[in-house]
Amino acid sequence: LASTEVDVSAIAEGQAITVTWRGKPVFVRHRTQKEIDEARAVDPATLRDPQTDEARVQQAQWLVMVGVCTHLGCIPLGQKAGDPKGDFDGWFCPCHGSHYDSAGRIRKGPAPLNLPVPPYAFTDDTTVLIG
Ligand code: FES
Repeated sequence: LASTEVDVSAIAEGQAITVTWRGKPVFVRHRTQKEIDEARAVDPATLRDPQTDEARVQQAQWLVMVGVCTHLGCIPLGQKAGDPKGDFDGWFCPCHGSHYDSAGRIRKGPAPLNLPVPPYAFTDDTTVLIG
């Protein structure tokens, strides 16, 4: 399937789900206000792959990104509800120790780039079409 439709209505704040899009895992996270605030407090100029949080999301509470580490392709940990991983309240790649923040941006470790944001659109309040 070229596109994947996701019903986000059952994802509570602080929870995340993993869906498959074109054979890749895509993380859909319902961020908490704390996670949003942390992501927005960072000066993007200090980042390895400079991107604002606003440029990575369409709605602040919904983070949608491909869950494949940009180093060598492992799947980062951090999808368990209320249990973000790494030093930046986001994801941690156990293969070689890359830390991604609550916007999925690389903050520490060998990965060169942020977790990619796929093309997606909200087709209504609770439906996301990826691809
Ligand atoms: Fe993720 Fe190497 S594959 S840190």
